[in-house]
Amino acid sequence: MRSYSLIAPGKINLYLEIIGDRPDGYHELAMVLQSISLADKIDIRSIGIETIVVRCDHPLVSTDAGNIAYRAVSLISKQFPEVFARYGGVEITIHKNIPVAAGLAGGSTNAAAVLVGLDLMWELGLTQRELQELGAQLGSDVPFCIGGGTALATGRGEMLSQLPNLDHIYVVLAKYKNLSISTPWAYKTYRQHFGHTYITDTESQENSRHRIHSRPMLSAIAQNGHKEVGKLLHNDLEKVALPEYPQLLKLKEAFASQNVLGTMMSGSGPTMFALTESQSQAEEVKAGVKEKMADPDLEFWIAQFNSSGISITH
Ligand code: C5P
Repeated sequence: MRSYSLIAPGKINLYLEIIGDRPDGYHELAMVLQSISLADKIDIRSIGIETIVVRCDHPLVSTDAGNIAYRAVSLISKQFPEVFARYGGVEITIHKNIPVAAGLAGGSTNAAAVLVGLDLMWELGLTQRELQELGAQLGSDVPFCIGGGTALATGRGEMLSQLPNLDHIYVVLAKYKNLSISTPWAYKTYRQHFGHTYITDTESQENSRHRIHSRPMLSAIAQNGHKEVGKLLHNDLEKVALPEYPQLLKLKEAFASQNVLGTMMSGSGPTMFALTESQSQAEEVKAGVKEKMADPDLEFWIAQFNSSGISITH
């Protein structure tokens, strides 16, 4: 086929622990990542000439070579130059629903969809692992976004172990329209404040990576324990984001005052989310927080946990 349409779900973190520095300048992490039904739609089409075109209806998404979806096409065409020459160029159209720079892997999931779509369109026959290895060159969350569901992510975030699906959990997400947090800023500031707590030697980091399997969040997920999962939400990056942006702390408190399983900031923020057991509860929580905060700058979404990552619609 000459064109494909793909659904690219966003993600939230259920757990984000910073373990230490890595020799490559990144942080060694232990995360639990969860796909959500709030998703972008990506159309991929072959065009005759050997060029890459990215279109997007969102004013904050660049469509030049800096766009991560563009970089995904570039990467794969450099890996398979003869295929690129045979099939010609590619046009990518991104229909944005996931808020941008929000800690929901909006860019990463677009890149993941491009890798999955090009593999199909160019009949490359890559395995999921090969696609994830390519994805890791584009961003730490891209490998997870390909397979999605619920997963433990260690290393930079690219080493994945699939976890059992958490069924029937709803998510209310809220983000201030004009607030975005730079991921490098969040990690750099964390290092400045908490660098002294980092595990420094590789052996201890390795041990810590193995120990994560026995931590309470993973047991709660294994038992599909919604209440426990809600209580055990944890994100180290809140320690830098909440003091810097007091409106985020207020938002978290507003969520916590409602009937929720738990509430937390996703990734490096600034999206705050709360988990509920039903759609109607999610609607009530949204209405409650909206009334309490009464801020026209605050946007809300309701989504469900998704058991998979990138899917193809046609
Ligand atoms: O990999 P990605 O491009 O998503 O990372 C964005 C930034 O987040 C990195 O440049 C780095 O500053 C920070 N980061 C980190 N450790 C990680 C993942 C991201 O320090 N494991």
